[in-house]
This record gives sequence, C-alpha cells and structure tokens, in this order.
Amino acid sequence: MMRNLSNVLLLLIISLSSCLMVFGWDNGLARTPPMGWLSWMRFTCEIDCNTYPDECINEKLYKDMIDRIVDDGYLQAGYQYVNIDDCWMAMDRDPKTSRLIANETRFPSGIKALAEYAHSKNVLLGIYEDIGTLTCAKYPGTYYQNKDHTFIDAETFSEWKIDSVKVDGCYADPKKFNITYVEYSKALSQVEHKILYGCSWPFFKADFSENDYKLIRKSCNLWRQFGDIVDSYQSVKWIIDMMGMHNERFIRYHGPGDMLIIGNNGLSYEQSKTQMAFWCMWSVPLLMSNDLRSIRPEMKEILLNKELIAIDQDPLGIMASLVIQKSNWQTQVWTKKLSPMNNNELNPWAILYFNGHQLGPDSYMSYKLSSLIPELNQTISYDVHDLFNSNDSYLGTLKPNQQLELLVPTAGSVRLVKLIPKI
Ligand code: GLA
Repeated sequence: MMRNLSNVLLLLIISLSSCLMVFGWDNGLARTPPMGWLSWMRFTCEIDCNTYPDECINEKLYKDMIDRIVDDGYLQAGYQYVNIDDCWMAMDRDPKTSRLIANETRFPSGIKALAEYAHSKNVLLGIYEDIGTLTCAKYPGTYYQNKDHTFIDAETFSEWKIDSVKVDGCYADPKKFNITYVEYSKALSQVEHKILYGCSWPFFKADFSENDYKLIRKSCNLWRQFGDIVDSYQSVKWIIDMMGMHNERFIRYHGPGDMLIIGNNGLSYEQSKTQMAFWCMWSVPLLMSNDLRSIRPEMKEILLNKELIAIDQDPLGIMASLVIQKSNWQTQVWTKKLSPMNNNELNPWAILYFNGHQLGPDSYMSYKLSSLIPELNQTISYDVHDLFNSNDSYLGTLKPNQQLELLVPTAGSVRLVKLIPKI
C-alpha cells in the first residue's frame, strides 16, 4: 500500500559553508534555532547603488526585506530576524569616539533608525562585525588599528538596540580566539540590550580537533563550522555530507546549517525541498538569503512549510542522526527524535530518505522501521505522514517490524515523513 500511495503522491508533488549551531551560551536567546533573513549569500558586498539600486547594501534593501517578512507571512511562520552582513560601515571608525559608524550615503538614517523601523513591525535586526583588525571585506574590525574595541562596540550595538551580531574571524589570529571571542561574549552580557551572539570561531581554525567546543558552546549562541554556502546544489550536498561525516562529533554540541539558498537560481524545486528538509532535521537556524521581493511561489511555499518548521523548532532540539550511508553518500537515511505530542509520552520521529543518484529512474528506498530506529516501541503502530504534502499527508500505518518504502526522485531529492505513535 505504501508503494502505491507513494507513487500517487510523487505524481502530485512533481511540479541554507558554514554551520551554525544553537543552544549554546545561556543568555536566554536562541533556545530554538533562530529564523530570519541574512543578506550575504544573495547580495554579498554590492555597494554600487547607481548600477544596482535594488540590490546594493543600503537601508532600502533591509527595509524592503523587513516589509516582505511582515507582509508575506514569513514573520507569522517564525522568521523574525533581518540580518545585515558585511559592508554596512564607513571605512573608518569615528575619529573622536572610536565608535563604528554606518556608511552615510547608503544608510542616511543610521542603524538605530533601521532597528526602530524593524521593531515597529516586530522584526529583530542583526548586524555584522569581525573579531580581527578588519572585516572580511576590509571594513573596521573589533581590533581596528590593533586597538581593542570590544566593549565600545557592544555598547554601540546595545544603544542602537541591535538584536543579534555575527562576529566573523578574518584578519585575526585564531590562536587568540579563546580570549577574544570570549571577551566579546562578556561585553555583550554586560550591555543593556540583549544581543544574540553568532561566532565564526570554529570555522577559522584549520582543524576541527583544535576547537574547544565546550568553551565555544558556553560563550556563543550560534557558531559556524564551515566556509560559506553558495548558490548551488554542490554546495548544499557538500554540507550534507560533511554533516554526515562529522555527525557524531557535532551531535554532542548540537547541529549546524548555513543560509538557506532556496529561492535563488542554483537549486531545482526538489533540491530546494532537500535543503529545507536537512536544515530542519538538524535543528539549525533557518536564515534565508534570497530576494523576497521576487521569490517564486513554489519556493516560498517550501520556506513556509509549517510541518518542516515545526521539525526544526522541535523543543527537544536534537540534531538528526545519520543511520544509513551508501553508494558514496548518494543514498542516505537520517532519523530525528521529536518531542511527545498531547501528553502522550511516546516520541514521534522524523525519517528522511535522500537520493543523490544522477543517473537512472526515481528509486524505491525501503527499510524496516526498527532497523532505522531501534528505540521504537515494538508493541504499537505508527501513522506515517508525508511532511511535504500537507493536504493529504497520511501514507499508512506501520508496525516497527514493517518496511517503510518510499519512491524518492533522483538528483538530490528527499522524502520526509513523520511517524506518529498510535495509542
Ligand atoms: C566571510 C564570511 C561570509 C560573509 C563575508 C563578509 O567570507 O564567511 O559569511 O560574512 O565574510 O565579508
């Protein structure tokens, strides 16, 4: 039955480097993965506003995105942050106060006014700085001209009522990160406004094993593990495989993810579903980097999928486990334990089947449930729901000793189901 239903569903259906980890520093923020929008992947450091009036890094871009977040249903779905990335600053600090200042031509109203605009619409505003002498695009860093501006910057951001800061690691000595990134955390904890702290710390160390994840976790709300995502399937697939290869290490400190590139040019419809599914399975931040003013409706629908967002935001916050890896990472199965529903103490589970093969027909993947999830209660049945088909999600009911068989399209596609214990 499962097979026939899957066929029908498939016919109906056919039509976010780096890693950020959450649940770190206990300052009350990012208790579930933050959701929002970040300019970097899509708009990078475009500062030529004459040639690109709608795409350059200026206050209009962020105001437009704040408006779209509110008016197009993203805020309601949970996407609350709009994050400025590099290239917002003037080329120097204020000569008298040493404070950071925004580029006056591109941000004529200033960052404080932008934060007020965001807050008037219940959106939170994030900003970007770097722990080195310069940012990655060579704007003034925390240690600009070799002087420590950590506390001044934390105060400035607090006065502006900034809600989140991404602190990059260019033009800095990674050997000092155990001090500099920790000092930044202290500074943020001492200012009046609460600011979520995202660290690029682990990414800038060449070797994972050199990272003091306990200290990173204690100091930062989020941290990134890998280099930047770009607008391509290869980039998403690389992150998926790295997450699989280092699953055991990362799972202990919690999961990763970079910007969601859904809604740009690099991913097909099925591959966009794939990125959303993996990011949600890992319980990582959902930060879109796209142009919300011109996004295609089917891509928007993926980003607003309530069932998937609920998997990402599940209160248990467990990163999914890789349970099957075959054919040189072209076949993968991941499982994720979810928190119990309606006072029923049995846990639902999410199961993801991934088919990366680029040759041949769509393929049936079939595994015995108990072989994927030994913890399942053998005495009960589980209803199986397709999380990408909210109108008709029920696929059947299975006992743990039965096979979950799903037809999975090729070329980097997924099927994602939820097992709901039947009592
Ligand atoms: C680095 C980071 C990116 C972005 C740029 C800005 O490359 O990895 O995410 O912040 O710097 O210059």
